[in-house]
Amino acid sequence: MSKLIDGKKIASTVLDRVAQDVKDLGQSGHEVALAVIVVGDDPASRVYVNHKKKDCAQVGIISLEYALPADTEQAALMALITQLNERKDINGILCQLPIPKHLDEKAVLSAIAPEKDVDAFHPVNVGHIMLGDCLLLPCTPAGIMEMLHSEEVEITGKHCVVIGRSNIVGKPMAMLMLKENATVTICHSKTVDLPAISRQADILIAAVGRAKFVTADMVKQGAVIIGVGMNRDENGKLCGDVDFAAVEPKASLITPVPGGVGPMTRAMLLQNTIIAAKMQNKIK
Ligand code: GUN
Repeated sequence: MSKLIDGKKIASTVLDRVAQDVKDLGQSGHEVALAVIVVGDDPASRVYVNHKKKDCAQVGIISLEYALPADTEQAALMALITQLNERKDINGILCQLPIPKHLDEKAVLSAIAPEKDVDAFHPVNVGHIMLGDCLLLPCTPAGIMEMLHSEEVEITGKHCVVIGRSNIVGKPMAMLMLKENATVTICHSKTVDLPAISRQADILIAAVGRAKFVTADMVKQGAVIIGVGMNRDENGKLCGDVDFAAVEPKASLITPVPGGVGPMTRAMLLQNTIIAAKMQNKIK
């Protein structure tokens, strides 16, 4: 059995499921549409938004891009979101981050209707994650759970160590693992003796955004290793938060970069759009 968790392959199964859902919804008279707002010209955002549009096209979801200039005023952005919230033909809305500094990100994310919030960044959806009863899950943690399930990784009773405490990945990841009965530890930049803690992990999830942060001495023999970040190493080569070459021999399962968590995050956005469309149309 391969140690490698093939995110691309698992994501393609999700995409097949989504494409079938889009077809079924279409046959019952419901087209599925995602609105993507992008403010300014951040090059990475452009790449991500193009991926999202391409992914939508692949599964038959209509994507509508709202590209606004970098000097867009808060009121104009809020007015657009209000308009999209009210449109019955739009099921999902996301505002690509980062947005320019003069804009109030918290207000923007809170303005998106929770039932259309396919990023699950709205405080109401964040609250549901805490309560363990959420329908829309943040895409990266949801994608990681899908991977672990697909690989039939035992979660109950296992020690899961999450490195990173971001609102987008670390915190919701910890909640999802807790919901599935893992014992969870969250580590971060102020953690004392992080290797001593990460070495206890049966499942280690690194979401730090630092190239090859997790080294072999930080890993227990036989652990499941999930790397979230995408970085460049000293030679400009794409690499993850985990020193793959050094850690792989100790791991029972490990995600590659690229082809690990990334494709799952992309797939889960489309799955969320389906969940949102079904919710809005009261379809199970
Ligand atoms: N920028 C980087 N990742 C994300 C994401 O998952 N959602 C949004 N809206 N912006 C991002």
